[in-house]
Amino acid sequence: MALDSLQIVLLLPQLLHSFCQSSSSWLAMRLHLSLGGLVTTAVATNLYVSSYIGTITTLQLSQAQNGSYALKQVAINNGSAPNPSWLTLDSTNGVLYCADEGLSVPDGTISSYSTSPSGQLKQIDRHSVISGPVSSVVYNDGKAQAFAHYTGSSVTTWSILASGGLQSLQNFTYTMSSPGPNPARQEAPHPHEALLDPTGSFILVNDLGADLVRVYSIDKKTSELIESTPFHAPPGSGPRHGSFLVSGNQTFYFLISELGNTIASYKLTYGNASLEFTQVFRSGTYGNNTVPTGAAAAECLISPDHKFLLTSSRNDSLFHIDNFDVNNSTKLTSDTLQTWEINPYTGELAFKQLSPAGGLFPRQFSVNKLGDLVAVGLQNSGRVVIVERDIKAGTYGKFVAEIDIPGQVTSVVWDE
Ligand SMILES: *[C@@H]1O[C@H](CO)[C@@H](O)[C@H](O)[C@H]1NC(C)=O
Ligand SMILES: *[C@@H]1O[C@H](CO)[C@@H](O)[C@H](O)[C@H]1NC(C)=O
Ligand SMILES: *[C@@H]1O[C@H](CO)[C@@H](O)[C@H](O)[C@H]1NC(C)=O
Ligand SMILES: *[C@@H]1O[C@H](CO)[C@@H](O)[C@H](O)[C@H]1NC(C)=O
Ligand SMILES: *[C@@H]1O[C@H](CO)[C@@H](O)[C@H](O)[C@H]1NC(C)=O
Ligand SMILES: *[C@@H]1O[C@H](CO)[C@@H](O)[C@H](O)[C@H]1NC(C)=O
Ligand SMILES: *[C@@H]1O[C@H](CO)[C@@H](O)[C@H](O)[C@H]1NC(C)=O
Ligand SMILES: *[C@@H]1O[C@H](CO)[C@@H](O)[C@H](O)[C@H]1NC(C)=O
Ligand SMILES: *[C@@H]1O[C@H](CO)[C@@H](O)[C@H](O)[C@H]1NC(C)=O
Repeated sequence: MALDSLQIVLLLPQLLHSFCQSSSSWLAMRLHLSLGGLVTTAVATNLYVSSYIGTITTLQLSQAQNGSYALKQVAINNGSAPNPSWLTLDSTNGVLYCADEGLSVPDGTISSYSTSPSGQLKQIDRHSVISGPVSSVVYNDGKAQAFAHYTGSSVTTWSILASGGLQSLQNFTYTMSSPGPNPARQEAPHPHEALLDPTGSFILVNDLGADLVRVYSIDKKTSELIESTPFHAPPGSGPRHGSFLVSGNQTFYFLISELGNTIASYKLTYGNASLEFTQVFRSGTYGNNTVPTGAAAAECLISPDHKFLLTSSRNDSLFHIDNFDVNNSTKLTSDTLQTWEINPYTGELAFKQLSPAGGLFPRQFSVNKLGDLVAVGLQNSGRVVIVERDIKAGTYGKFVAEIDIPGQVTSVVWDE
């Protein structure tokens, strides 16, 4: 060990709880002690990034005492899934699940990995599955997981084993008697996202091909899903992603639709094993601004304080931002993020901000627990950026860190 610089890495969740207002187990505080007596501290958080090239990269975001951030790769898992499309982190058990779309092969795969503070992932389990899984959600108190399979027109459920492994429970495969209004994209059902409702009693699946939000009640004894009446979204809209809000005694569901480039709010009424959707708001994804030709709405998340809805849109090229390479004067083309203020009484949305995403095709993004940083996965730029966010105003600020990732980035999740 070098005598002039002693590095101690502490992993003390309790201590960090008060320090960072986070209950993270994988936040590491590094104390750099030098013989000269200088002490600098930095907090580091791990993030996982999936890329279609076949990798799950672990990044570490750290903040120096002067406030500046650094984002670096600390581990890479290469080759256990050919085309990772989505990551779901069960932070309670330290297990990361990867959906692999299997773009160039007949089947997809799903796999699970144990996480570690170093960022190293260790594979626990792997299954060949119905083609095209693109999203998953853990439900029934961590006992099961549901996957949406885009290419394979299916929804599948899996029991989660104590090891973090998975065991097939149910397969629902859907067909359509004729193509939807957008025949190029709606030639078949295309489940795009699986979500757990706030009561933990229903799974919702947005189906882009069938213009449906499929509804399932959960049998808590067996973790099996029971199909209920689906909600019919407007024809040709292409439901993609969604998010819930419980506000007083009301529950709202926000749905972003890729083909129609719309955002809608629905008030949910709970029945016995059924859900009723009442539309309370609907707008283009750019508010009162015209939707640019070629735009494709993507992500839809609620801020941790439940006051703002955050969405992203691909292929609009509306911004030209400074190059992240300070020595390169060529501007970068950027697609967009949108911020909406939620009316907590009515569920209506007011368009608040249009801001650059940091590159091309912000397919997915995730917000840290505090809500002051957002990690954006930029598919066509092969990049992850961290953008700061004013929690109170709900608006995005500057990019504080970025890193290039080989291939097409499909998702990025925080481990805190
Ligand atoms: C802040 O500190 C980091 C790490 O010590 C250093 O690399 C960076 O240059 C500093 N930034 C500023 C603006 O002083
Ligand atoms: C992944 O592994 C393959 C085969 O060994 C190699 O060619 C490729 O460069 C690796 N990719 C990354 C991003 O490390
Ligand atoms: C679901 O389909 C897969 C094939 O992709 C099969 O291996 C599995 O046994 C099926 N599960 C059930 C419960 O039928
Ligand atoms: C829901 O809450 C509002 C405002 O607190 C109240 O006026 C209303 O009666 C409540 N409705 C139900 C069905 O509880
Ligand atoms: C609720 O729905 C379940 C499943 O469909 C059914 O078994 C049960 O009898 C229903 N209960 C009531 C009170 O309607
Ligand atoms: C992006 O938009 C352009 C029109 O501006 C369109 O021609 C192109 O097909 C779009 N690309 C994708 C991948 O949607
Ligand atoms: C930018 O150029 C300066 C001067 O040539 C060099 O010292 C610096 O390392 C460069 N920075 C980057 C990020 O490449
Ligand atoms: C500068 O940035 C542009 C846009 O990303 C890129 O095409 C170009 O290769 C970069 N130039 C250098 C010298 O790195
Ligand atoms: C569109 O503009 C009207 C009038 O200014 C405003 O009331 C409405 O909230 C705007 N729509 C959105 C989605 O922000």
